[in-house]
Amino acid sequence: LPLGVLVSGRGSNLEAIIKAIEEGRLPARINLVLSNKKDARALDIAFQYSIPAEFVDPKAYPDRESYDLALATRLKEAGVELVVLAGFMRILSPAFLEQFPLKVINIHPALLPAFPGVEAQRQAIEYGVKIAGCTVHFVDAGVDTGPIIAQAAVPVEDNDTPETLAKRILEQEHRLLPEVIRWIAEGRVTVKGRRVYVRRD
Ligand code: GRF
Repeated sequence: LPLGVLVSGRGSNLEAIIKAIEEGRLPARINLVLSNKKDARALDIAFQYSIPAEFVDPKAYPDRESYDLALATRLKEAGVELVVLAGFMRILSPAFLEQFPLKVINIHPALLPAFPGVEAQRQAIEYGVKIAGCTVHFVDAGVDTGPIIAQAAVPVEDNDTPETLAKRILEQEHRLLPEVIRWIAEGRVTVKGRRVYVRRD
């Protein structure tokens, strides 16, 4: 399965995908990495593994739609069939999503529908939940609202800070995201409205 990965920052989820592919756990390849941030460490990681990666500057486009269409065009040119948002800190417009219907997934560091948006781990601690986690979902026009494919839970400890909780959740992200991509690559995922079914082996 030819992947496109959109990033904005550190790139640890990108690296988890790369490692899963290298270790033969994921029948996919990354055709292109695109970043909206010039200094994203994720770009360095891509270069390290000789994966084509580009910074696409939002300031070079007059509006969101034209930027998103530029991203979609690059991904199409690269032959991408599944777009993975791995720490991509922008909302994608319907214009982009129409190009990739049910072909865009996102990883979010909370058990959706709780705590969408930014600083999900801080939101969870401040709310006082005892269980937190991460969610992989299809992307729709809302913020972290698309059909849920898989979730993983972790405990919230009394002495957790947003950072310690984020670390515990991140370990699950690195496990879950490559696994979900594998399910999609193997054609085991079907979507009916909001409900996603994964055929087990
Ligand atoms: C992850 O926690 C992801 O769930 C969130 O942003 C973070 C990205 O981390 N959307 P990284 O860039 O993959 O290291």
